[in-house]
Amino acid sequence: MSKQFPGVQAVNNVDLEIYPGEVHVVAGENGAGKSTLMKLLSQVERPSAGTITIEGKPIHFHGPRYAQSLGIAMVYQEFALAPHLTVAQNMFLGREPMKMGLIDQATEIQQARTLLKRVGLQLDPRQLVSTLSVAEQQLVEIAKALAIEARLVIMDEPTATLTGQEIEDLFRVISQLTENGIAILYISHRLDEIFRIADRITVMRDGSVVATLPRAEVDEPKLIKLMVGRELANLYPKPETHIGEVILRVEGFSRARVLHNCSFEVRAGEILGFAGLVGAGRTELARAVFGADPIDAGTLYLAGKRVKVKKPARAIELGIGYLTEDRKNNGLAMNLGVDKNITLARLPMFGGMLDLRRERRIALQARDSLRIRTPSIRQRVELLSGGNQQKVVVARWLETSARVLFFDEPSRGIDVRAKAEMFELIGKLAQEGRAIVMISSYLPELLNMCDRILVMREGRVAGIVERERFSEELIIALATGAQEDKIA
Ligand SMILES: Nc1ncnc2c1ncn2[C@@H]1O[C@H](COP(=O)(O)OP(=O)(O)OP(=O)(O)O)[C@@H](O)[C@H]1O
Ligand SMILES: [Mg+2]
Repeated sequence: MSKQFPGVQAVNNVDLEIYPGEVHVVAGENGAGKSTLMKLLSQVERPSAGTITIEGKPIHFHGPRYAQSLGIAMVYQEFALAPHLTVAQNMFLGREPMKMGLIDQATEIQQARTLLKRVGLQLDPRQLVSTLSVAEQQLVEIAKALAIEARLVIMDEPTATLTGQEIEDLFRVISQLTENGIAILYISHRLDEIFRIADRITVMRDGSVVATLPRAEVDEPKLIKLMVGRELANLYPKPETHIGEVILRVEGFSRARVLHNCSFEVRAGEILGFAGLVGAGRTELARAVFGADPIDAGTLYLAGKRVKVKKPARAIELGIGYLTEDRKNNGLAMNLGVDKNITLARLPMFGGMLDLRRERRIALQARDSLRIRTPSIRQRVELLSGGNQQKVVVARWLETSARVLFFDEPSRGIDVRAKAEMFELIGKLAQEGRAIVMISSYLPELLNMCDRILVMREGRVAGIVERERFSEELIIALATGAQEDKIA
């Protein structure tokens, strides 16, 4: 298969075989062509060349409905359920069971209930999709795949937005599907999970397949080398920094049921980590500082001066930045170019006019330093791969003169090399004297990158650990509240 977009050979002469009951992982850097390949298989995109055969029979291109009818189902990277319809309606959209010319709602609901049970969801099928969590929506999508009796279920970074327990639930469903002979094609950037679930791994680079190997023949260094094209010396480059005066001080932040008397400070040149279980309040604390959520009590000091931040616009004005993990709500203007998105927060003006040449220069610089893969800096952001969109968000914040930057799960959805580069960048920002707060659910990232780690548990600061005392055990003990004696 090949797919050519204007200026981009997204998929280049790829051969791929998928067997019943296997978990086939597709790995590769951002922009390698993984999602595009999946869209060719699910007939969301028309191939420029190539053929698909199912059980030896060649398949023509007739669009996604047709692919579904052949048993190819896709669970999207960005969800595609209709929020204002019920779970059952979503599952049978366009294939509703009919009775005397009318939709047979009773049957629809009953069938939906059976399928939901198969993916372990205890939901009322009459519930609106908008009331579901991300994890639930994803399982509904899988139930929908079962509804069409899929033989191949394609999952594009399904765990990117899931929490620990939800990931376990998903993996359980995946093994049930494979036991029933359903093949899973699975895209992921998370090496730990790739090695856990893959039967075979296909690595893509620059639109081509570099190798397809059984899991047993690949280890982590080898996989990285296949993806990146060379070995990566250091995944977590932490630079020497000079830690200066306190820039941000948060005192007694509280919000009913969410935050309880949280205090911390972060200094110039310092990288402070936020650790904790999902739901412990890390993002909530960051959002409260940023003015995105109201607080009931608490005081904020910036460079020693008391400030009030009631909305994000004020935070940005004061030099506080917040980079969110949430791709859909990260503030990208999807239909504008890469260049505009980067300079949006601080337009380069000259005599009351937008300085287009400077805008271009800034954008080009950002593209090169962050390795944003785009055929042109004027390319609409919606046409970039997921990871590259994330880099545009970062580029934009770097353009502002923020003194304090919160990175919320900065490595989510980006490939190994981009991760290393992102951390290098975070290190540079600290070196420049900015104060960095890094929220991550992946402990090795925090242990390697941070000067101190603040651990949250149930909306409280359970402890702040200095680098000399860093250990995975201690952080986990604080995060779970287990073994209190250890902590003292
Ligand atoms: N509709 C489109 N028009 C133009 N270019 C596109 C379009 N869709 C994808 N591309 C480009 O094709 C290349 C492959 O993109 P794709 O989304 O397949 O990458 P990916 O491997 O899924 O990356 P990621 O890990 O970041 O999700 C990228 O350079 C991307 O910008
Ligand atoms: Mg993708």
